Amino acid sequence: QLKKTDVVPLLMNYLMENEQIICADPTTVEAKLRKMVLGGAGKTVVISDFDYTLSRFANESGERLSTTHGVFDDNVMRLNPELGQKFVDLKNKYYPIEFCPKLSMEEKIPHMEKWWGTSHSLIVNEKFSKNTIQDFVRQSRIVFKDGAEDFIQSLDGHNIPLVIFSAGIGNIIEYFLEQKLGAIPRNTHFISNMILFDEDEKACAFSEPLIHTFCKNSSVIQKETSFFHEIAGRVNVILLGDSMGDIHMDVGVERDGPTLKVGYYNGSLDDTAALQHYEEVYDIVLIHDPTLNVAQKIVDVIN
Ligand code: C5P
Repeated sequence: QLKKTDVVPLLMNYLMENEQIICADPTTVEAKLRKMVLGGAGKTVVISDFDYTLSRFANESGERLSTTHGVFDDNVMRLNPELGQKFVDLKNKYYPIEFCPKLSMEEKIPHMEKWWGTSHSLIVNEKFSKNTIQDFVRQSRIVFKDGAEDFIQSLDGHNIPLVIFSAGIGNIIEYFLEQKLGAIPRNTHFISNMILFDEDEKACAFSEPLIHTFCKNSSVIQKETSFFHEIAGRVNVILLGDSMGDIHMDVGVERDGPTLKVGYYNGSLDDTAALQHYEEVYDIVLIHDPTLNVAQKIVDVIN
């Protein structure tokens, strides 16, 4: 008679056979998968980053696609080049710092605070309306990874909560999901920077605390205690991220079950030190993968 966990070796074979998938410690991955399969959908929660994790990093020609903040860079440049240039200058200055291998996280944090703070001030000072921002999203270069829509819908179908933990802009993710899926699935919960609107639906502030790449940890989830309490029975976590800042996104979960960490590596293959670092902190590293296939297969075996 077939046991529930018989599917695990098949999934392990798939992970080990694929050159674009690195699983540095297969024994640990297999043990985590067994626990998760035994727990089933009812004990699972997915915690995912958005930019370049659920969304694609580059198009077919290798050009980098947009982040949620990047929606402003592109659209504002079209309408008001002077202001647009300010957004672009900020990205050109701070993006290399975010990924600079020579700086420690502590050294990067003040720069990230400055980057996020300045770009949020530009958005608020310009008093963009909700409608305008929804239009920006419609015309943006944010693209779902292949299979992302199905992945999100399948989580909803299996009643598995999806926590989107993003240092991007939560409203932009909401508008994007509404536009692509017709509505935001019931199972989705956001932990992100939210644009607050005044009574005329003009941007007037951002939610606190500010979430940047390197503070996706206990410092920003105080407001989330009741949410994590509600899902306290969900002891098994599938974590999806693309940066070093994503690996503690499960900090709010009340439990001691396994977290299976799946990391998208979008960097250069020549940067062996960076790649090795990913292999140390993520259970499964996906190299230049524009799909949600691995996450989907994991969810499929858990059900
Ligand atoms: O956590 P998440 O991956 O969603 O992070 C948001 C990303 O948005 C950061 O990695 C950063 O590169 C990018 N960003 C941006 N423009 C800003 C602030 C952040 O493109 N003004």
